[in-house]
Amino acid sequence: MSLLIIGGTGTLGRQIVLQALTKGYQVRCLVRNFRKASFLKEWGAELVYGDLSKPETIPPCLKGITAIIDASTSRVDELDALKKVDWQGKLCLIEAAKIANIQRFIFFSAQNVEEFKNIPLMKIKNGIEIKLKQSGIPYTIFRLTGFYQGLIEQYAIPILERLPIWVTNENTYISYMDTQDIAKFCLRSFQISSTQNQTFFLSGSRAWVSSEIINLCEQLAGREAKVQRIPLFLLKIVSQFFGFFEWGQNISDRLAFAEVLSSENNFSKSTFDLYKRFKIDTSEIVQLDDYFLEYFIRLLKRLLDINFEDVQKQKNLVI
Ligand SMILES: NC(=O)c1ccc[n+]([C@@H]2O[C@H](COP(=O)([O-])OP(=O)(O)OC[C@H]3O[C@@H](n4cnc5c(N)ncnc54)[C@H](OP(=O)(O)O)[C@@H]3O)[C@@H](O)[C@H]2O)c1
Repeated sequence: MSLLIIGGTGTLGRQIVLQALTKGYQVRCLVRNFRKASFLKEWGAELVYGDLSKPETIPPCLKGITAIIDASTSRVDELDALKKVDWQGKLCLIEAAKIANIQRFIFFSAQNVEEFKNIPLMKIKNGIEIKLKQSGIPYTIFRLTGFYQGLIEQYAIPILERLPIWVTNENTYISYMDTQDIAKFCLRSFQISSTQNQTFFLSGSRAWVSSEIINLCEQLAGREAKVQRIPLFLLKIVSQFFGFFEWGQNISDRLAFAEVLSSENNFSKSTFDLYKRFKIDTSEIVQLDDYFLEYFIRLLKRLLDINFEDVQKQKNLVI
């Protein structure tokens, strides 16, 4: 099976590329910048130039491809990209996939999309889900929550750099996941025919509230966090303020995510059934505490290495 992966340089996409190559799939990555994507080539993927905001670049990338995994999304810092990439670009991709007779199209959406049509990214995700279903292309849609990887930037780094952490007053529970585990589900779907033409709500085995994540990071970092609380209604006002401007659309969307991803506190029956269906044991799934522990250990080792190199340099100067 030959795969075209879009968004291979991204947080989730790179994990999918790596696991797909390990499993022996033929992997082609549609990329905008060969230099930035060179690590994917080193791993063994074929790189092909494409840009979702330039529709004419899409069809040639699909030659000889059996399945598409679309893990792309517009970058927050690129003006006007949301409409061009996440909407127009994906519509062109679906059209091209139909013509190329693609056998499976995997798309990543977000939880609760239909409830938040006031948020442009959610409205677009919902719209693409509908277009994909109508296209007749065999599909699998994964509706995701937040990623562990995003929590490093949100909580761990501010604590380490003694910067404030902004949280809402509300106890919003979110079942985050490691992108390595999402990649596992994604590739497993090729082996399980009943996952075709299905939409799955994919979430981690435990839901976390921000204060628990902060406590965990405080323990691991050995220092207290500077927590700034902001009521959800104020966050909504700020979000609406940014959303008013074209340039602020992406910021507005990201701010609104706290509410979008809210989920159950416990590992629900539906999640349990999902793991069973994909034949993935919950003990295989990376837990958030283990993920953070590994991050802090790696960081500590790096700091020790840097310190060691500095001492060596000083010694060499003295000699
Ligand atoms: N992050 C979350 O918490 C979360 C939650 C729910 C759903 N999701 C969904 O999960 C998927 C993966 O998210 P992520 O956080 O891994 O994304 P990410 O790290 O932001 O990566 C985005 C990827 O899309 C590519 N891309 C952007 N514009 C493009 C264009 N014009 N043409 C082709 N490729 C383009 C980027 O390539 P460059 O390197 O060239 O910029 C990058 O590889 C997305 O569909 C996202 O909406 C994410």
